[in-house]
Amino acid sequence: MLKKLIAVVLLAMFQDGISQPLLHNAYNRASVSLNGNWKYVIDPYETGYRNHRNWQPFDQTPSTRNSAKPYYKDKKIVNRWDRVEYDFDLADEIRVPSDWNSQDDKLLYYEGSIWYRTKFDYDLADGKRLFLYFGAANYQTDVYLNGEKVGLHRGGFDPFNFDISDKLRSTDNSLMVRVDNRRQKDRVPTRSTDWWNYGGITRQVKLIELPETYIQDYYLQLDKNNPSIIQGRIQLAGNEKSQPVTIRIPEVGISKTVETNENGYADFTISAKKIKKWYPKRPKLYDVILQCGTDETIDRIGFRTITTQGADILINGQSIFLRGISLHEENPIKRGRANSEEEARMLFGWAKELNCNFLRLAHYPHNENMPRVADELGLLLWEEIPVYWGIDYEDPVAFAQAESQLTNLVHRDKNRASVIVWSVANETPVVDSRLGFLQNLKKIATDIDDSRFISAALERNEKEATDIIRVPDPFAADVDMLSVNEYIGWYSGLPERCGEVSWNLPADKPFFISEFGGGALYNYHGDSLTRWTEEYQEYLYIEQIKMLKKIPTLRGMTPWILVDFKSPRRNIPIIQDGWNRKGLISDGGFKKKAFHVLKAYYDEMEKKYDYSIKD
Ligand code: GCU
Repeated sequence: MLKKLIAVVLLAMFQDGISQPLLHNAYNRASVSLNGNWKYVIDPYETGYRNHRNWQPFDQTPSTRNSAKPYYKDKKIVNRWDRVEYDFDLADEIRVPSDWNSQDDKLLYYEGSIWYRTKFDYDLADGKRLFLYFGAANYQTDVYLNGEKVGLHRGGFDPFNFDISDKLRSTDNSLMVRVDNRRQKDRVPTRSTDWWNYGGITRQVKLIELPETYIQDYYLQLDKNNPSIIQGRIQLAGNEKSQPVTIRIPEVGISKTVETNENGYADFTISAKKIKKWYPKRPKLYDVILQCGTDETIDRIGFRTITTQGADILINGQSIFLRGISLHEENPIKRGRANSEEEARMLFGWAKELNCNFLRLAHYPHNENMPRVADELGLLLWEEIPVYWGIDYEDPVAFAQAESQLTNLVHRDKNRASVIVWSVANETPVVDSRLGFLQNLKKIATDIDDSRFISAALERNEKEATDIIRVPDPFAADVDMLSVNEYIGWYSGLPERCGEVSWNLPADKPFFISEFGGGALYNYHGDSLTRWTEEYQEYLYIEQIKMLKKIPTLRGMTPWILVDFKSPRRNIPIIQDGWNRKGLISDGGFKKKAFHVLKAYYDEMEKKYDYSIKD
């Protein structure tokens, strides 16, 4: 079965002309930005992807016909009798990066394809390559340069790039990008979620010029079993793969040169004796310079270990409590996807006011500003892929989607000190085929990086009529941190129910609540049993915290959720109006009463789990 699965996965990837290996540290590479106003054509009938004659039944995703030549080619009328039924030059404009839903009321609920077009000049010097890099686009992205297909990416929240050197001309390049955000059975996430299906080129687009042979990837992290050494890996790409690469950390006088093999690969160790470790209270980052031939890339890396010891979570060998909060990638003020460094600082600023040291970036990979700013601010992160609710575990295409997104997430953030958890699932009903699916995902992540925790929001004994709560999820044995969502007091019982239950958990694993919470409309007040009032939410938090404090193996939590967020599932007029109201902060940026209950608890836990900085 597994062999068949891998064969189909590889076929699915190559059939789609999938994007190329991720260019690591694109974030810091010198680049030319293509952000700005692009022309766009809304295309619900896929006219641009092919003409109507050879149209497949509507529910077939066009990607199964990836070889079809597009009808939209950015053509211009030459003769007065020419027939071209589109014109990008005359079309409306749309901002990149940004979801399309928040840019125009007619696109608020739009699910389908939109064709984007921008133009640029680029004079590429001999012996150089030019890469086109996308921070992300939701969900399927087909890219054409000067009328030729460059490639295709499937996945709504992970970066991808293409080498466009051989399709480039020095002036007037026409870049056309089709983005299709439809929810499909074989996609990840699948058809139902509790968040807005924001579509489009949601993150930055840029051009990165590199030498013929360049540093494609690298990994530099403290060895979790021997923190006196840094484990390192380098991967070159290009024609001269076997050559010397120098790694420098100037602040501590480290300089090491290694020779890559014929595949462009080298692994090595560096002494960490002079390194000051990264802690949330002292987020020390070092400039790391990697140089090979004429290529040089500079990163900012923090060095720390994250391990468990029985039920304890240890950072650099010292016990911590994860004072967390969950967060969607949404700026509630602009009512759209967050994608900038400023928005990362705004969201993290609210979390710091709550006295958090940890955030769950739910339910998909957030933009790269989040781990980069978290590295700087000393915030720890849980990152995840949207294997969410009813995934089709039997479908190899669905697995290929999960694999691709997880691989890109782990590769993108494997050098970020802030990231300590890779999560592979959220509230996924237990069926036979699920365990193998999740265990294969765990292996994909740990094969790239085994220095961090694997977790998932697991299933508890929800269906049992009992006061004893357990986590009988078969994947529980595979995770480093036993995490579960529970909504006692909101979805099951009233807040007083928290005082009626007890938890039966393993004693040798850290226990973590990945979600609890309840809704409240900001400034709607009443007694503590009137649902949707701030008082009900406050009472729920008081009772939840009383219950959770009794769990001896509890080492953290990320209540649901920092800020109200948009969801098409939430439709009580006046109270919800398309918003999930479980935020501790309203969509206007105002704190609700429960915010202060959680903050008081975190102030207490900060003192209880204080630690000293031991370099
Ligand atoms: C679930 C789910 C969240 C959802 C939340 C809710 O736990 O993981 O994505 O928003 O419940 O019902 O508000």
